[in-house]
Amino acid sequence: MPDPGDQILILNGPNLNTLGNREPEIYGHQTLAEIETACRDTAAGLGLVVDFRQSNSEGELIDWIQGAPATAAGIIINAGAYSHTSVALLDALRGIGLPIIEVHLSNIFQREAYRQHSFVSEVANGLVCGF
Ligand code: DQA
Repeated sequence: MPDPGDQILILNGPNLNTLGNREPEIYGHQTLAEIETACRDTAAGLGLVVDFRQSNSEGELIDWIQGAPATAAGIIINAGAYSHTSVALLDALRGIGLPIIEVHLSNIFQREAYRQHSFVSEVANGLVCGF
């Protein structure tokens, strides 16, 4: 098992398993598997290990967040639509005491009004979006 200090938990929320087919004009043509490979390669170059997961279930994401302090040094999360709806996810992230980076493939600030607020942003140390 990797040292928790060397491991980054990368969480992907609902519908991100369909990347590649899903609205490619918004989310691009890369599949989640291809993104996972790119993350693993980049992490390896930094001497880090990636624990890369996806779930369509809010509860499963919360379980993974709660477990993160035992296994990871930080979390990178694209919570998908739960970013805009889930106080439960926010509560889980708030409690873990790890650095959090929020990611969105699209630039949520150039999209519909309901995507322009993210609960995750309240606890994220940084945000990357629009790439
Ligand atoms: C997303 C943006 C969300 O608004 C949307 O619900 C997603 C993907 C993004 O990566 O751009 O599922 O998080």
